[in-house]
Amino acid sequence: MEIIHLSAECYPVAKAGGLGDVVGALPKYQCLAGHHAKVVMPMYRTRFLYEHEWDVDFKGHGRMGGRHFEYTVIREKTNVLGFDLYLVDINGLLDREKIYGYDDDTERFLAFQLAVADWMNHWEHRPEVVHCHDHHTALFPFLLQHCYAFRQLAGIPTVLTIHNAQYQGIMSWDKISYFPGWDQWKWGLLDWNKHINPLASGVRCANRVTTVSDSYLQELRYSANGLENLFEYEKGKCVGILNGIDTEVWDAMTDPNLVKPYQLREVAEGKQANKEALCEQFGIRDPENPLFVFIGRLVGEKAADILPDAIMSMLYTHTGKLSVLVLGSGEPHVEWQLEAMNERFTGVYHAVIGYHEKLAHQLYAGADFLLMPSRVEPCGLNQMYAMRYGTIPLVRSTGGLQDTVTDIGDPEGFGIRFQHATVGDLYHAMERALNLYSDKEQMEWIRKFMMQIDHSWESTVDEYMRVYQSIQ
Ligand code: ADP
Ligand code: GLC
Repeated sequence: MEIIHLSAECYPVAKAGGLGDVVGALPKYQCLAGHHAKVVMPMYRTRFLYEHEWDVDFKGHGRMGGRHFEYTVIREKTNVLGFDLYLVDINGLLDREKIYGYDDDTERFLAFQLAVADWMNHWEHRPEVVHCHDHHTALFPFLLQHCYAFRQLAGIPTVLTIHNAQYQGIMSWDKISYFPGWDQWKWGLLDWNKHINPLASGVRCANRVTTVSDSYLQELRYSANGLENLFEYEKGKCVGILNGIDTEVWDAMTDPNLVKPYQLREVAEGKQANKEALCEQFGIRDPENPLFVFIGRLVGEKAADILPDAIMSMLYTHTGKLSVLVLGSGEPHVEWQLEAMNERFTGVYHAVIGYHEKLAHQLYAGADFLLMPSRVEPCGLNQMYAMRYGTIPLVRSTGGLQDTVTDIGDPEGFGIRFQHATVGDLYHAMERALNLYSDKEQMEWIRKFMMQIDHSWESTVDEYMRVYQSIQ
């Protein structure tokens, strides 16, 4: 089967979060399973672009409202990622260093989708499925089905995966001039609450919709940033498929970022060596103490705002009993609070504000506990990476966290779960972790148990294939 993934991110080409990880891994494992998966994404000016060799595959042009644009599609020469990778260049729109965060993001991602549709119009064959990811590519099903210019592509089956329904790409109706001639009877397929809503349009127009965990799909029917009724109405075409992780990239034995790689039977010593290196790097005094880490976007969804108070309370009431490291970036006031604590808690706490892939790997490996108090977590990859490195996750019971972590109070439980994204609940969970840490035998059992849990993509690829097959 030929599967075309359309995405704004793909690791290691360009990644802002879990979407990049998923689009960098799922196609690779689809190819290993004998399918022909390809990724098509914007050509940002990232390092990957300059470090690899490319063939020009196609040159074309398009129109977005009054704006004429030329586009070029290039293909990576050596199949280095395990699948065909195509980048679409549009000068003046996609030729930027960052993935998101520009005033004209609406125009950038719409032009990207128009260019891809135009390029496909020139293909001599039709792919079996186009798989769109999140709102940046969610208008594609509408474009294919209802814009006259792409009429010959209308029959191509489409799937939309929702990684995060908080972001919907909403634009005002004056942007409708950007769309090439379309069947205006179908305006209802673009509209949600008097705006053009790409994510809502994708849910309506794609043949099938998937979410990245089953619990998240259920949650969307009562909490979806305004789209609740839509998910209730369209539930027949939706299915939750839990993300996998790339077990080649995330392997404590072969991870080049670690000071000491380790395998299952030496997890205690391996983690201790990595912890000691972190302690030295960040001036943490006692490497015998349990090390708690947080890695992620410092935003409301991740409940990063409760971190400063919860961590501070723990450091005051359990002085000298724990250490904490934080890595993240996001809302300035949270960044500021976390960074301001560096001076106050030197020797037991340190926050690094920024995005550092290598440090993230080192933290998963060297930590004892990972904090994930998320308010919204469609799947969450951090907890799965942590588990694979023998690090115990402390998670709020929501979305994918609920589907991947069981509490130590339950049979065969290995994590710590709590109900509310509040300082009190997180504090209590951290106290439970402190208690657990003093039981060396149980720690050892849990670490080994977690490292053997199978979250590999191999077992998930078939679920996507069943979705694709259902629409052929
Ligand atoms: P989300 O996509 O919502 O941010 P996920 O848990 O799905 O959350 O994935 C987050 C990914 O981004 C993980 O690979 C995590 O290690 C990585 N990540 C997040 N913040 C940082 C950071 N500041 N530095 C390095 N890696 C980060
Ligand atoms: C989104 C979600 C996250 C999920 C990731 C990959 O960024 O916030 O929970 O793991 O996508 O699907």
